[in-house]
Amino acid sequence: LTTAATAIALSVTATAGMAACEDGEIVVKFAHVTNTDKHPKGIAASLLEQRVNDEMNGVMCMEVYPNSTLYNDDKVLEAMLQGDVQLAAPSLSKFEKFTKQFRLFDLPFMFKNIDAVDAFQASADGQAMKDSMQRRGLQGLAFWHNGMKQMSANKPLVDPSDADGLKFRVQSSDVLVAQMEAIGGSPQKMAFSEVYGALQQGVVDGQENTWSNIYGKKFFEVQDGITETNHGIIDYLVVTSVDWLDSLDPEVRDQFLTILAEVSETRNKEAFTVNEAAKASITDAGGIIRDLNPEQRQAWVDAMRPVWDKFAGDVGQDKIDAAQAINA
Ligand code: LMR
Repeated sequence: LTTAATAIALSVTATAGMAACEDGEIVVKFAHVTNTDKHPKGIAASLLEQRVNDEMNGVMCMEVYPNSTLYNDDKVLEAMLQGDVQLAAPSLSKFEKFTKQFRLFDLPFMFKNIDAVDAFQASADGQAMKDSMQRRGLQGLAFWHNGMKQMSANKPLVDPSDADGLKFRVQSSDVLVAQMEAIGGSPQKMAFSEVYGALQQGVVDGQENTWSNIYGKKFFEVQDGITETNHGIIDYLVVTSVDWLDSLDPEVRDQFLTILAEVSETRNKEAFTVNEAAKASITDAGGIIRDLNPEQRQAWVDAMRPVWDKFAGDVGQDKIDAAQAINA
């Protein structure tokens, strides 16, 4: 009895918050890496799960696995091509093995705010990017916003020279490697799930991320402080496999894509507010946030901007020009 009770308790824990899928329903596993509350992606994924399970009950059943509990971002796209997971929303920095087009989004100081990112993605150039990996078996379905990135380290960062010699965790993007090298840092690519431990143990000295990620994974607890640089963005592509999407009946596919489009529109409008709330929560929890005056911020622009030249060929000067026109 004890063993059976334990088994039941374990299975209840594992499926807490998850709809039990019924026989005959199309099961959609959605793996992501962030926390679920006070996070633009976490909230959007939960809302998508709830709407699919309410409105498509008996036909489709979604199970969201947050916090890297099913896959981290380095593994999820391969798993998707194997058919082991149907939906993911990795940041645009994590598609390097599949396309170099998204490098545009990692170039430092390319977009002045998340509204500019939204406007670029809504353009014909942006929408075409969702189809850029079809030959590799992946189909982009929607862009989801997070927000602007900030810099943190185990010492105060005010002038870019403060970063000299520090080890920084970066996402798996060569643009971000070049960006950290441009300020004299030594970048290390690492999965999101490893960052807290690496900061805590001094494997790396610093990192860059949005307020919601810095709060959601408590990075501020193991850093000296966070400098509000707004030097880059984290945004996501909700992605599936071409094969899986093709396997759906047209009516089922349409209903699913309509729900996804509605959730994307609703939640993208709230991403900025969610990040501002996370920023306030960091301060409330005793985290240190440092502002830069215009001259100090300009020093970060001057140090990082040369990175553009290195990747203009990959992303296309026309795309850079289009992004800059939106910022103006
Ligand atoms: C990161 O790895 O820092 C982010 O891409 C995590 C996320 O999904 O926001």
